[in-house]
Amino acid sequence: MLNIALPKGRLGEKVYALLSSIGYDCKEWNPDNRKLVFSDEEKGVSYFWVKPSDVAIYVELGAADLGVVGKDILLEYSPDVYELSDLKMGKCRMAVAAKKDFIDDMERPLRVATKFTHIARGYYASLGREIRVIKLNGSIELAPILGLSDVIVDIVETGTTLKENNLEVKEEIVPISTRLIANKAAYRFKKEGIDRLMSLLETKL
Ligand code: PRP
Repeated sequence: MLNIALPKGRLGEKVYALLSSIGYDCKEWNPDNRKLVFSDEEKGVSYFWVKPSDVAIYVELGAADLGVVGKDILLEYSPDVYELSDLKMGKCRMAVAAKKDFIDDMERPLRVATKFTHIARGYYASLGREIRVIKLNGSIELAPILGLSDVIVDIVETGTTLKENNLEVKEEIVPISTRLIANKAAYRFKKEGIDRLMSLLETKL
């Protein structure tokens, strides 16, 4: 049995569609009810419907053999897992954004609001720029509007959220996309099954 943690939501459904197209479909599958585990003994697969930011924890601790997670989570939390493949979905970028008229005052630390504190610290350390991090959990774009921060470090996909809040991208940090990850022990003990899935997957990527 391969246990796969999928991120709840549109991306998870897209990944399920991809996996079912290479033979890992599941008779029970129905993401519209409140069920969180979908298994198909015949196909040898079990799917867990997990909050996106928790997928890496399930995989790292071995509750799932495989998982689907954004590169942003891998960069931010460095979970102890194998990154097997780029699924080339959920493409976006990690960027610095600010009000259009923002000018950096080098005389004082830059106030950076973000969910991604590790990525932000690493980025500004590489520039040698002193910062003060303000950790938020969502609606990050509000911070520069209210003067809580000078800039934000956040995910930009279509750019709509920035545009509608009169902010713009100032610097791009790193491109992001969805990755398939594996638990390290499972990768040894279930190598045959995982390799089989991987080679079928490669024909679709
Ligand atoms: C993410 C991100 C931006 C937005 C970017 O937020 O934090 O706010 O999407 O997408 P766009 O460029 O297509 O507008 P999310 O929807 O995950 O909610 P959050 O405010 O809780 O972070």
